[in-house]
Amino acid sequence: MVASQKGGVGKTTVAINLAYSLARRGWRTLLVDSDPQGSVGLSLTEKARDCSGFFDILSGTAVGDTALLSTRLPELSLMASGDPDKFYLGSVAVQRELISARIQSLFADTKEAGFDVCLIDTQAGVYGVNGELLRASGHVLIPEQAEPLALRSLPQMLRMLASIKADSDTPQLIGVLLTMVRPEDPDGLSLLEEVREAFPRELVMKTTIPRDDDYLKASQIGVPVGLLYRNPPLSALIFDQLAAEIEKKLNLETRHGETEFTRLMD
Ligand SMILES: Nc1ncnc2c1ncn2[C@@H]1O[C@H](COP(=O)(O)OP(=O)(O)O)[C@@H](O)[C@H]1O
Ligand SMILES: [Mg+2]
Repeated sequence: MVASQKGGVGKTTVAINLAYSLARRGWRTLLVDSDPQGSVGLSLTEKARDCSGFFDILSGTAVGDTALLSTRLPELSLMASGDPDKFYLGSVAVQRELISARIQSLFADTKEAGFDVCLIDTQAGVYGVNGELLRASGHVLIPEQAEPLALRSLPQMLRMLASIKADSDTPQLIGVLLTMVRPEDPDGLSLLEEVREAFPRELVMKTTIPRDDDYLKASQIGVPVGLLYRNPPLSALIFDQLAAEIEKKLNLETRHGETEFTRLMD
């Protein structure tokens, strides 16, 4: 789950580009859009508007495999956000237990369908549907925008995680990921130091996402940055680095077993 208590910190950008990198690295990846604003779906496919999605599963009007959209990359599938109005404004209020059960069966279906990774883009906040997603998720990645006072809202997320983890092993915090970092900006650098001092080293991702207009451009056209140009720019390679860092942290390295290398020449 890509989660943060704040909006505009780069969650959707991270989710789309990380999903693309993981899929390119061979992991069968499902990117789920659980934001009522449908940002992943809208930026990646027009079809997302008309098809069932995450909120239809929560409303009980769709089941998992009817809501899967395949992409040109065989390893990458999408689930759009669906119809949040029916869920939030509909006449039948869905109980918390039922939301939790439907999220768990979505995850079970995803596993059953053969996906290695289910990556969930979320709306800002830690309560409500996001709280149930956190309870059901194996791992959580927290993007934080590198700006002064960015860390102010983090304790709420950490309290929520601590409360869930009081009676469960999951979700495991993959780490805090700094986004929109401007290395030339003294504020950005001091935040980086602040974060690294405030958290145990293993909870801050070594990879940081720089501020780069490519991300803005890519999200406007509706592609991962890796597809923006014929030769993937540095802004795309950074997500390969993030994917590799996450693979290592989660011991997901089996796809790159040492015995499977291919020689450059015979
Ligand atoms: N590293 C970055 N560099 C420049 N612009 C970025 C970067 N990450 C995100 N953006 C832009 O900032 C805005 C908010 O990002 P978004 O990923 O939608 O955040 P969230 O999902 O947390 O609300 C978008 O317009 C996006 O294109
Ligand atoms: Mg978003």
